[in-house]
Amino acid sequence: MRNIDEHTITDAVLQSLAATPDARLKQVMTALVTHLHDFVREVRLTEDEWQAGIAFLTATGQRCSDTRQEFILLSDTLGVSMLTIALNHAKPAGATEATVFGPFHTADAPHVEHGADIARGAPGLPMFVHAVVRGPDGAAVAGAEVDVWQADDDGLYDVQRPELGAARRARAVLRTDAHGAIRFRSIVPTAYPIPVDGPVGAMLAATGRHPWRPAHLHFMIRAAGWQPLTTHIFRDGDAYLDSDVVFGVRSSLVGDYARHPPGRGPDGSAIDTPFYTLEQTFVLARDD
Ligand code: BEZ
Ligand code: FE
Repeated sequence: MRNIDEHTITDAVLQSLAATPDARLKQVMTALVTHLHDFVREVRLTEDEWQAGIAFLTATGQRCSDTRQEFILLSDTLGVSMLTIALNHAKPAGATEATVFGPFHTADAPHVEHGADIARGAPGLPMFVHAVVRGPDGAAVAGAEVDVWQADDDGLYDVQRPELGAARRARAVLRTDAHGAIRFRSIVPTAYPIPVDGPVGAMLAATGRHPWRPAHLHFMIRAAGWQPLTTHIFRDGDAYLDSDVVFGVRSSLVGDYARHPPGRGPDGSAIDTPFYTLEQTFVLARDD
């Protein structure tokens, strides 16, 4: 292989991949190189632009830590996360749709009893959630593990507040009862910007995009015999439902967050601020 030019380089690289033993890796690498080369040709990439691209990817890697994953943020904001979810989580009719996982789940959320206040002091208006997990035929899924996490009224997850250390709040794990139900108290979610103090923030600014996600609760539901479900329930009426920076909104995932004047909450407690209730059904798909 010598005297390679812009017309022959793609075939030369593809030939170098010809002996890849793993057939899937060969397919992925072949398509990646083909599209990458076509991209470079299409935009007639300059050397300065390629250096800038490499500097951007380097900075993205350098911004990653135990508590920050800038590459996931990049994938989310370029729509790659939602594209892979759409391709891999086609659900049967009636099953709850999936959406982005996001970078703020932790594996150490407290396991709580039904009725617990999972906010644990996080600022925000009170909210009472009653959710039921069902199969496609309407039968309750008992014993499902339901992981829930959310941002507080300042638009921050607990892991974004160094002052909290390892303390966890506005997140919990519950198990559905014999009726497939969970109940908990928390705070109503509000819209928040994704972190913009890194390369992804610079990319959003350079392309004239806002960094906001519409208000939502995260749910991850796992039960033996059922496909795991990672999803959100978005707050109806949110100004960013049609311009989510990570393209995660589906109409079926917009919940009915009902606002109530100060008074008695559904658990009988006296509440001196307005509060919200959310009734939500999740439908799992069978794990065939
Ligand atoms: C989230 O909802 O937590 C999230 C998702 C994608 C990017 C950033 C945040
Ligand atoms: Fe979120």
